[in-house]
Amino acid sequence: MKSVLKLATAAFAALAVVAGVAFAQDASLQTLRGAQIDEPVTVVGVPKQDKKRFGRAYRHQPPLIPHAVDQYQIDTNANQCLGCHDWSNAGERNAPTLSMTHYLDRDGRQLDEIAGTRWFCNQCHVPQADAEPLVDNTFVPSFTR
Ligand code: HEC
Ligand code: HEC
Repeated sequence: MKSVLKLATAAFAALAVVAGVAFAQDASLQTLRGAQIDEPVTVVGVPKQDKKRFGRAYRHQPPLIPHAVDQYQIDTNANQCLGCHDWSNAGERNAPTLSMTHYLDRDGRQLDEIAGTRWFCNQCHVPQADAEPLVDNTFVPSFTR
């Protein structure tokens, strides 16, 4: 057993060396910002979420979330987003109300509570900061409100 383990360790070490050499030799590998992968890149200021709503880039885009979400739990029992965004709380919390599409079940019936199909908000909505894109792209928004 011991010798099998030793052999395996030796084989793994040899593999790591070979992989290491191959990796170091490939100078064509670059990061998204165009730097060599082993070259440290200075980050100039981390963009903050500034709580201002974003315009929408196309019809039916789920709006981007302008605030942090890491403190808000969503699981089968709890959804803390509703504490501010459900119609029953939004006025008081000064938050945008969920649109009525979020209260339609899959057969199109209007419900009083959020539809199950809209429970997991981050399936469709993602947090975003107002930051420069990492790589250039040619996307042109077709619609802004
Ligand atoms: C403490 C209250 C609060 C909680 C909890 C909260 N939000 Fe918000 N949210 C806000 C407020 C206030 C705004 C609007 C900011 C503004 O208008 O400047 C907002 C904006 C948004 C928007 C943008 C809407 C638009 O039309 O642009 C989305 C999407 C959103 N929140 C999703 C979420 C999700 C998903 C969660 C849970 C992970 C969540 N929020 C939890 C208060 C909250
Ligand atoms: C299946 C995708 C999906 C899920 C899940 C979902 N949304 Fe949305 N949401 C959208 C789309 C698409 C829109 C824009 C069109 C519309 O209003 O229906 C929207 C609009 C919104 C708006 C803006 C309403 C307005 O009138 O400006 C808020 C706020 C929002 N969603 C919050 C949430 C929260 C909070 C959850 C979770 C409880 C959630 N959404 C779940 C897709 C989704």
